[in-house]
Amino acid sequence: MINLVLFGPPGSGKGTQAQNLIAKYNLKQISTGDLFRYNIKNETELGKLAKSYIDKGELVPDQVTIDMLVDELKKPADVQGFIFDGFPRTTPQAEVLDTIVKDLFNEEITITLSLKVEDEVLVERLCERGKTSGRVDDSDESIIRNRIKEYYAKTAEVATYYQAQDKFAEINGVGDIQEISEKLYAEIDKVLA
Ligand code: C5P
Ligand code: MG
Repeated sequence: MINLVLFGPPGSGKGTQAQNLIAKYNLKQISTGDLFRYNIKNETELGKLAKSYIDKGELVPDQVTIDMLVDELKKPADVQGFIFDGFPRTTPQAEVLDTIVKDLFNEEITITLSLKVEDEVLVERLCERGKTSGRVDDSDESIIRNRIKEYYAKTAEVATYYQAQDKFAEINGVGDIQEISEKLYAEIDKVLA
């Protein structure tokens, strides 16, 4: 299997790059943010709970997110592997992900690909996206800044977790979408070679 973690702050282009990666490597994208939004739209109990955090730009508690992820991973999927987009967001989530992938598939995370983008560009991108995304958390600059704050407080350290396993590559996330994809492919192909 190929199991990729797409890592980086909000607005760094994880979802955009996932689209190219799923096609090239026959992977299923698992975006925990998208799964939350699906639940919010359908007004499930999980959606109601998640919304109270997401609309403020805060992280949903680990166990809630992990349970949702496991449910999604257990669904049959005729693919080569998975792209984890927006998960793990905390070190405990990263530790659990290793266990889950081992227990369900007897596999490991192949590599974590990190997209590097400076904060002011992130704010600009997310404000722009907010004009059409319909997302409450894209609609207000102070919520956007809170998401970036949460990233530095709880998520950035996840890089250390994967670096310690020698499973981490950082790519400049500013530039032409296709050129960024090519750099990601090169990192993946290096591991697969
Ligand atoms: O990944 P995405 O930016 O779509 O996530 C949107 C929101 O969903 C995050 O700002 C956060 O509130 C919530 N989320 C979370 N834990 C995750 C993924 C998303 O709390 N692992
Ligand atoms: Mg996304």
